[in-house]
This record gives sequence, C-alpha cells and structure tokens, in this order.
Amino acid sequence: MISNSIEAGINGIPNIPGDKSISHRSIIIPSISNGICEVDNILRSDDVLHTLNAFKTMGVKIENYEKKIIIYGKGLNSLHEPKDPIYLGNSGTSARLLTGLLSAQKFKSVLTGDKSLSSRPMKRISDPLSRMNAKIITSNGSLPLRIEASNLIPTIIDLKIPSAQIKSGLLLASLNIKGKTTIIEHKITRDHTETMLSSFGSNIKVFKENNKKIINIEGQKELLPKNIDVPNDLSSSAFFIVSALINKNSNIILRNINNNPTRNGIILALKKMGGKIKLKNQRYHNNENVCDIEVASSELTGCELGPEFADLMIDEYPILAIAASFANSPSLFRGLKELRVKESDRLKLILLNLQKCGVECKSENDNLFINPKKKYDVINNIIQTDFDHRIAMAFCIMATKIGPLNILDSESIKTSFPNFLEELNKLGGKVF
Ligand code: S3P
Repeated sequence: MISNSIEAGINGIPNIPGDKSISHRSIIIPSISNGICEVDNILRSDDVLHTLNAFKTMGVKIENYEKKIIIYGKGLNSLHEPKDPIYLGNSGTSARLLTGLLSAQKFKSVLTGDKSLSSRPMKRISDPLSRMNAKIITSNGSLPLRIEASNLIPTIIDLKIPSAQIKSGLLLASLNIKGKTTIIEHKITRDHTETMLSSFGSNIKVFKENNKKIINIEGQKELLPKNIDVPNDLSSSAFFIVSALINKNSNIILRNINNNPTRNGIILALKKMGGKIKLKNQRYHNNENVCDIEVASSELTGCELGPEFADLMIDEYPILAIAASFANSPSLFRGLKELRVKESDRLKLILLNLQKCGVECKSENDNLFINPKKKYDVINNIIQTDFDHRIAMAFCIMATKIGPLNILDSESIKTSFPNFLEELNKLGGKVF
C-alpha cells in the first residue's frame, strides 16, 4: 500500500469503529451471562471476530444483524468443549482473556494463533493462573497452549506486570471459583472488565489501598444479562487526531468516542504538546465516559512523558511518535518496555521506520527520544510493519506529511480498523 502527502488538510467527520477492548468483553461476558444480551456498534474486525467465533464453537448462539448482534448467554458453566483448537489469529486480547476463562471450565481446550501471536508471551497469564491451580501447558511460554479441566482455588495475586489483559483473564477465571479471589494492581490499566462485570451483577469490589488497586471478586455468582452499546474507539481515533494536528488547514470532529480515564493518556499528551483538541458533550453512557472530540491543525511543542503515561496510552506510542516528529522541539517518552511485546516489537519498528523517514531518534533503557526537523529527506520509503496494524496506520499518517511511503503487510489494519483507508481518503488522505 502506498500512502501519499496531502496539501488541503484533513477535514470532516470520520466514522470511527466500536472500541476493540470493549467489543471483546461485549462478547465474552454476555456469552457467560444468564440470558439474552443485545450488543450495538460492536467492532467487526478480524480480532473481534476471532473472539466471536470462539464462543460460537463453544455452543453460544450469536445472531448477527446489520447494526447489532444478539448473544444468548449460556451461564458460567454451560459452554461446550470445543472439538478443535480455537484459532485466535493476531488477537492478544482474545488469547489472554480466553486462557483465563477456559482454565476454570470443566473441559480441555487448545488455543492457537498466527505467527505474531504465537511469538507473544503467554506465561504472564499462565503463571498466575497456575498459582490458582489451573493446568496450562504452553509451547515455550507461547501459543499453542493447552488448558486441562481443573478446579481453581481462591488466591491473592499481586500483579507485577501492568496489563489489563492479564488482569481480565484472572477476573474471568475467578468468576467460576468458589470463594474470594483478590487481584492487586500496582499501576493503572484499562478497567473495562471490572466495569462490565459489575454492571452484569457480579460480586466484584474495587478499592484503593496504599496507592494500589485491590479487586475482590466472589465467584460462582450468575451474571445477569444486559444490553450494551459499544462506544467508538479512542485508539483508532488517535490516528485521525494526529493527522489533523500535523497537517495545515485541518479540522475534524470525532463522535461518540470512549474517553475512559484509565486509557485516555493520548489526549492528555497531545494537549500537553499544544494540540488544539476540544472534548465536547462529555457524558456517561453504559458505565463508560464518552465524548465528541474536535481537532484543528496545531503548532506542536515537544514534551517529556514519564512512565505513568505509558500505563494510560500504551497502544498510542506509534502515532504519538509521528506527532513528535512534527513538533518544534525534541520529545522524550520514558518507560516503554511493554511496547516490545505487542503485535510487534513496536519500539524497534518505530525507531527503524522513523529513521528511514529521516527522523533523528534513539532509544535507551526503553525510553524513546525524538529530535524533529523542519523538513525530512526520506532515506528509504519501504516501511516494515511485521503485520502490526498500529505501525501500519501510524506510518500512513506520517506519509500525509512527507510523501509516498510503501507500507508493507498493511492488510493487518483490518485486525482493528477495517475501514481506515476509506475513512482517511474520505477526509483528504491519499492512500492507494
Ligand atoms: C488490551 C490491553 C492492552 C492493550 C491491548 C488491548 C485489552 O494490553 O495493549 O491492545 O483489551 O485489555 P496489555 O494489557 O497487555 O497491556
């Protein structure tokens, strides 16, 4: 795919798809609830479809309509044993959350994924689950993994790695455990699972103690059915927000965007850089913060962000790095270790590809330093993405400023934002 520079700016109202994290949970939690749930605005991307198919193969009836899906929940204990291994494509969220859920079922199951997912760490979820008495056999710490039926026991888990996927996997496992499971979180991670479980009537209590978040959950309580309206995805919006900020003559409005305070660091960071971003019509819908976002072309200033920002915006560093490349002063982003274990080693690919575009940047101790210039001489316009959707989309936005980039393996974009290219072109982008 070739993405090209533009002059007229990025203007209009893009259709941003439903939030990916909330969409996964909007299939998993209704499927194990005790009744019928209608889910509106679910993201229909490859990653989410893998989660949906997983539950269909475990006997959950899911009806697909143009705007919504209807899920006939089977309760906590009536999923069917899958006949074949469950294939999860590129989706880390499906893999971690299902490992948790399935480890507390009365049947065995096998999870597999594509090349990228099969190289990602799974011990981070299988280790704490094993402490809860789960029986999980990984392949050298990764997929394929096999889960044997087991009776899990109430346990206190001190979560050292900041990860919503691990936390959510453990919470889903604990739903089937008699007694109280406790999860202690040292850093903020997205809280969609706790929020949704609580609205489905689960016995979950969340509080702060000594600067840590404590989650107590009493298992074996049936979940009540509920309808869900999935808000639109801030992580997908971020590509459009940055494209409007860095291109002259731009003005866009993004509607109905999830603005959950556990993951809206990109808004805080871009505002800190001087981005003209207005949050409008802020409201609370389905227990999630939602708003509309207006963005205009801006003169950005570089900034320094500590590791606490990484907790609030881990998926947004590829596109933040593009914004920083067009600021009028250097930026330093600290504490990006987790970026190395995403759909690709994102820190490596950000550096490699920015350098190909002529940007001066370096990384030391998992920090990223970017020294922007007024104009770039592209050294090599072939962008390596290792099938990582966020790297591909970030460099499409880079190309709107610096001219043709040949972005390899860009079909990965459909894992999270199938209409990204159409939407970008509709607003003035030039991608073909
Ligand atoms: C996600 C959590 C994050 C994020 C991923 C989605 C989720 O991963 O990077 O894209 O839906 O829980 P970690 O929990 O591994 O940080």
